[in-house]
Amino acid sequence: MSIRTRVLTGITTSGTSHLGNYVGAIRPALRLAQDPGTDAFFFLADYHALIKCDDPERVARSRMEIAATWLACGLDPARVTFYRQSDIPEIPELTWLLTCVTSKGLMNRAHAYKAAVDANQARGEDADAGITMGLYSYPVLMAADILMFGARRVPVGRDQVQHIEMARDIAMRFNHLYGEGLLVLPEAAVDEDVATLPGLDGRKMSKSYDNIIPLFAGGARAQQEAIARIVTDSRAPGEPKDPDSNALLALYRAFATRAQADAFAVDLRGGLAWGDAKRRLAERIDAEVGPLRARYEALLADPDQIEEVLRHGAAKARTLAAPLVAKLRTAVGLRSPQAIQAAPATRPRQPVAGGRFVTFRAADGRFHFRFVGADGSDLLLSIPFDSPRAAADWVKVLDKSGGQASFVWGPGALHLEPEDTVAGPITVLWFAEERLAATAPQAAADERDALARRLVAEFEVRWRSQQV
Ligand code: TRP
Repeated sequence: MSIRTRVLTGITTSGTSHLGNYVGAIRPALRLAQDPGTDAFFFLADYHALIKCDDPERVARSRMEIAATWLACGLDPARVTFYRQSDIPEIPELTWLLTCVTSKGLMNRAHAYKAAVDANQARGEDADAGITMGLYSYPVLMAADILMFGARRVPVGRDQVQHIEMARDIAMRFNHLYGEGLLVLPEAAVDEDVATLPGLDGRKMSKSYDNIIPLFAGGARAQQEAIARIVTDSRAPGEPKDPDSNALLALYRAFATRAQADAFAVDLRGGLAWGDAKRRLAERIDAEVGPLRARYEALLADPDQIEEVLRHGAAKARTLAAPLVAKLRTAVGLRSPQAIQAAPATRPRQPVAGGRFVTFRAADGRFHFRFVGADGSDLLLSIPFDSPRAAADWVKVLDKSGGQASFVWGPGALHLEPEDTVAGPITVLWFAEERLAATAPQAAADERDALARRLVAEFEVRWRSQQV
């Protein structure tokens, strides 16, 4: 039995990617997404890009280039929910709900805002000169990104940890005010094994230091030219060199096996010329990046294909976002007038929409229930119970917990575990491999995913239709 952990991360679409992004973020994120225990959500944070950049052409270009970069590096859109932040209208809506519970004092402490204030003061300017509300509220938008999809783990660089902690604080405050369990509390995941890549001058590779080596932009040529500019000392060919005196070896390591990197260091100590060392480094990098670059260029030549992938990803993401926002709107009081009528008992009974529960007796004489979608297909099959009563009790529990129920899905069909579940308002439904064998033996992973999403969607519809 496995439960997939919802993992989410965003990529700000300002500028283009460099080798530091590839080694520090793209490659590890895509490896993580391969893990069958991970349910990955990766998105283009293009609303965030507007905070940093007011050049429309650049924002538009960067959105395409960064989408193409991730796809070229191996992001599989059938596995990862890959979308653009600005294609999810529920995100700004959630941002507002969160803004209303976020204390200004919390935002005052954000590093990025504080750094901007400090810089202003150092220049003798007004503390808030040039600081927009976008920059100031940046952490709230980021919290909405994360909380929208119930992400538990958020892989980020160290500089972003504070933002994840703020998202957690905001979620706790919201839950405290409007209902425990409404929002999932996220955690930052900082990968200690991932080295920060040095740039041309040996400092951390970063656009702000102007020391980057491009990943794809400018083609293989631009990459080679950047590598040729890596700063070294003036030791002549044949003279022994200190392999740790510049960025060459660290860059080499990031693209080589340990044995290959060690051999490179030995050769440098033995007098390998800097020029030859740079050529070897460029070849080493190209062995990995070259084939990806070819895919990148093919993708960029066909922007419609990228759009299609992103549109599809947004539709997939919205099957989760829309029901959550509907639930949160109700929770904060943005609900239909019927919902505040005093005497619900006098209302005529409305037919319940969405899926329905069916209790039945199986061949082994034990009792199960199913959750059947509006079109009659099975979306959930419970474990066996000894009495119809026990099965019915579970149905009641599920129906009551309704909008609070959080469905966790992993490989396999749905399977209900009574033990450690209904401990609080959150009901967790587990999926078990053996159930899948019985219900949908041939289902591929994404079909199962679609099944799970339909379950959640139909369950939400049912639950909401009972609230009015
Ligand atoms: N702020 C992040 C960065 O600059 C990008 C980002 C936006 C993000 N929303 C997010 C990262 C949500 C993780 C989760 O790197």
